[in-house]
Amino acid sequence: MSATEQTTRMDSCPVTGHEVDLSATTLKDPTILARPNEFYWTMRHQDPVHYDAGLDMWLVSRYEDLQTVLADPITFSVEKGYAEQYAKGYIEEFKEILERDGGGFFPDAIMTDPPYHTRIRKLMEGAFTAHRVKQLEPEIAKVVAGLVDKFADKGAADGVQDFAVPMTIQIICAQLGLDDYDAASIQRWSLAVTAQIGRMQDREQMRENARVICELQNYLIAQIRDREAKPRDDMLSDLVHARTTDEDNPTLTFKEVVSLARALLIAGNETTATALGNLLYILATRPELARELYDNVDDERYVTRFVEEVLRLEPPVRGLSRMTTREVELGGAVLPKGAHMLNLYASGNDDETVFECPRKFDLQRPNIGRHVAFGGGAHRCVGLALARMEVKVAAREFVKRIKDIALDIPVEEIRYLPTVATRSIERLPLTFAKR
Ligand code: HEM
Repeated sequence: MSATEQTTRMDSCPVTGHEVDLSATTLKDPTILARPNEFYWTMRHQDPVHYDAGLDMWLVSRYEDLQTVLADPITFSVEKGYAEQYAKGYIEEFKEILERDGGGFFPDAIMTDPPYHTRIRKLMEGAFTAHRVKQLEPEIAKVVAGLVDKFADKGAADGVQDFAVPMTIQIICAQLGLDDYDAASIQRWSLAVTAQIGRMQDREQMRENARVICELQNYLIAQIRDREAKPRDDMLSDLVHARTTDEDNPTLTFKEVVSLARALLIAGNETTATALGNLLYILATRPELARELYDNVDDERYVTRFVEEVLRLEPPVRGLSRMTTREVELGGAVLPKGAHMLNLYASGNDDETVFECPRKFDLQRPNIGRHVAFGGGAHRCVGLALARMEVKVAAREFVKRIKDIALDIPVEEIRYLPTVATRSIERLPLTFAKR
């Protein structure tokens, strides 16, 4: 069945589009990256675990196959997948720059495999319990209100640059205890770190990004040294002074602390800001949905479901890597040992065998929370409770203060960051009125 046939049969569903010729294209193509759903659809129906020659990666597109990968972190190694993806093609030079100017090369302690990962993960989970996150709600609401009040009277603002990005930065910095930060630097740092798994940088860009990451590490190292001497009531101090029950390794090493602080500062920023940007995009372009949200903004359950459906329909994280540690069959393909893979969570969320009429924004879905926007299994997003809370509170507070949101540029002019890892709106110029 072709994509067009499918669309005709499910005539109340939004159009998926036409098949693409998989052998003639690659996910790296910027036009595919910006509008990927036809590419995903074709893979799921023709070649669900597709070898993409442009990326030299196996793309996992079906929900069911993603679940198989997520359930077996030993066969499908995050550690090897990330090592292969990280600064692809330039890793030795990248390491040299960081060791020379950035206080050291600190491999990501959380992007590792069990059993090492299990120890690190436990330490991080302590900081992100649903209970602790719930306590943050009033503080998050205050941050949102402060930001919205800055531009509410102006009638126009950039939903990503003036709102989503500064909001997520302010919240994670408050959690970590970074009070003397510069938001523009943190945004630059985030982009430089995420570019390392994005597979789109050339050598010059890598060198520039490495320089920016040196800045980030030097900043964090100073903050960590400060907490070593004088602990405070913040997440950074918690990491520095964390104790595990593992008798041989009761504390985190300095390298681990730097890498975890970096992960926490960066991992949640762009992703959460993107989720929020996507929500504003929907409000600006789908007036019927916006109206419904306005009518139900005080209904906690409604807003929660709205946020979940935004995350399913437009997941900020498109795809993250794995590597096989043995030969394995997956989705009809035989992957050799050492196969570099991309888990396409965005395609899993679009899989019609799990989500009926997947391109439709549908709050009545019985399985609304089954999406894989946060991955799954051992590496399921550790910050998801915080992320959900941030997006939910931001949606509520924004809607209470602002009305008549519209896009200030044609939809076709919206640009996405060039990366296979995420699908992030760069700028979202909006017009609106104060409520
Ligand atoms: C809407 C916002 C977010 C989305 C869509 C998202 C998505 C994801 C996904 C898909 C993974 C799985 C990684 C994999 O499969 O390789 C992940 C892991 C992770 N996320 Fe998030 N994330 C978000 C927000 C956050 C926040 C706010 C934080 C923390 C401040 C965070 C910290 C992490 C960390 C540390 C991991 C690694 C967990 C592990 O490997 O055990 N994320 N996230």
